[in-house]
Amino acid sequence: MTRILEVRALSKGFDMHHLGASMQAFEAISLTLDASEFLLLKGRNGAGKSTLLRTLYRSYLAQSGEILFHSSHGVIDLARAADVDITLLRRTEIGFVTQFLQARPRVSAEALVAEPLRLAGWTAEAALDEARHWLDAFGVKRTLWPAYPATFSGGEQQKVNLARALILPQRLLLLDEPTASLDASARAALIDRLAALKAQGTAMIGVFHHPGDVAQLIDRTIDLTPDTTPDTPQQEDRTDVVV
Ligand SMILES: Nc1ncnc2c1ncn2[C@@H]1O[C@H](COP(=O)(O)OP(=O)(O)O)[C@@H](O)[C@H]1O
Ligand SMILES: [Mg+2]
Repeated sequence: MTRILEVRALSKGFDMHHLGASMQAFEAISLTLDASEFLLLKGRNGAGKSTLLRTLYRSYLAQSGEILFHSSHGVIDLARAADVDITLLRRTEIGFVTQFLQARPRVSAEALVAEPLRLAGWTAEAALDEARHWLDAFGVKRTLWPAYPATFSGGEQQKVNLARALILPQRLLLLDEPTASLDASARAALIDRLAALKAQGTAMIGVFHHPGDVAQLIDRTIDLTPDTTPDTPQQEDRTDVVV
């Protein structure tokens, strides 16, 4: 098995200056992830799921601990890597899908989706062809392809977001409730795409509002709710221990 990620004793807290206090979002989390593995993160609201994903993606700096990512160029600690390395890894090896599209003024839906391919060296024409294929797969109407997503509905924006985020296979894919605001057919297209990426070796850590949507993809589950014993005893042997 190809190791992709080793997280060791990772902690993250926030200083709440206005309160003169600090709060711990999560503490001493350790986990490993291999290629093609799908790890479901669960836990009640505020348990720290989004914070953990953002810390892995380095949107947040870890307070302590290590995030050893096995990149195509060797092992790198994402908790300590230089910003320039993080930027490069995000371009080619680590993806993050959230509920929200970051639309940009005067950039069309198809150009936004084609951009990761352009950055990876595809020709403009091939990238646009592939972008249109994925816009179609996620159910974005043809008339919207050359339009600006800022004016799209929430569901349409999310489909553009998914097409862009999933167009290039990554080694590691982080997913934060990507199905929120999706209709049934787009949800099905998303699950198909995730299954194909998993089969190609992408390792995934995801939070899903309705985990049943991805039931057939889940290999392991981590519960971030503090002080919980696993509530699904039959899966206990597949649940990582979170201290
Ligand atoms: N940037 C931030 N500054 C301060 N507190 C934050 C920040 N981001 C998240 N938190 C807090 O960390 C806790 C975990 O939040 P979050 O990771 O969003 O939970 P979840 O995604 O599991 O619902 C919450 O109490 C939240 O208010
Ligand atoms: Mg969240």
